[in-house]
Amino acid sequence: MDYESEKVLSDYLMMHYGKHEERMPWGFSKLGALDFPAQTVSYFTQKHVAMSLDLGCAVGASTFHMSKLSSKVIGIDFSQLFIDTANELKENGKKAYQYQEEGNKFIPGLAEIPEGSVAGNVSFAQGDAMNLPDGFKGFDRVHAANLICRLPEPMKLIERLPSLVKQGGELVLATPFSWLAEYTPEENWPKEDSWEWLQAGLSEHFELIHHSDEIFTIREHVRKFQLGVSKVSHWRRK
Ligand SMILES: C[S@@+](CC[C@H](N)C(=O)[O-])C[C@H]1O[C@@H](n2cnc3c(N)ncnc32)[C@H](O)[C@@H]1O
Repeated sequence: MDYESEKVLSDYLMMHYGKHEERMPWGFSKLGALDFPAQTVSYFTQKHVAMSLDLGCAVGASTFHMSKLSSKVIGIDFSQLFIDTANELKENGKKAYQYQEEGNKFIPGLAEIPEGSVAGNVSFAQGDAMNLPDGFKGFDRVHAANLICRLPEPMKLIERLPSLVKQGGELVLATPFSWLAEYTPEENWPKEDSWEWLQAGLSEHFELIHHSDEIFTIREHVRKFQLGVSKVSHWRRK
């Protein structure tokens, strides 16, 4: 998958901002109602904090959700196209786009930032989650959804997390552990069970508060959807 292509951009605009009936127009209401970016953010405690970070934010819906309870949120993504789009949403509150019905038939859609978000609290920047600026440290909250199995060296991020999150701060990691050699060389895949591997990588510095499984759907066209199940875990920095 190329995160710089217009088609993938429209798939993610639909996943992040699409209306339920557009996202799943087949009456599978439970699947249509799934709002993965809001769902993973809801794992954080409901108190207001100062500084948050959203890694692999794509077109930014989870970053906007985090802005409801954070005075400042930085959304980082490797794709310049996604970051430009997220910035357009921040500036205008909305973005018109086209989503695929079938073949070369596209339908006009409108992405709007979630109600209650505080766009002024949000900033987006292109960056690499494996090589973040040295100044990135001590965040109250760090969120990374469906990112680690898209990184060539996921351990680089896992090892950086203890310094990114301040003591007592929160981490929410979501991942379907969808290991693919096209993103992550096989030698960097977990040798054992992925969930055990993740816990082993985090438990020295983080206490596990809660974990669960969350379904996400990505509409490719009106008759084709990706369906995944992400392991979502909520941690507190020791
Ligand atoms: C599977 S998507 C998940 C996007 C979003 N968090 C969500 O749950 O819908 C993976 C995202 O990670 C981004 N990404 C890939 N490698 C990255 C890296 N090294 N640093 C930051 N973001 C990266 C991609 O551009 C893409 O937006």
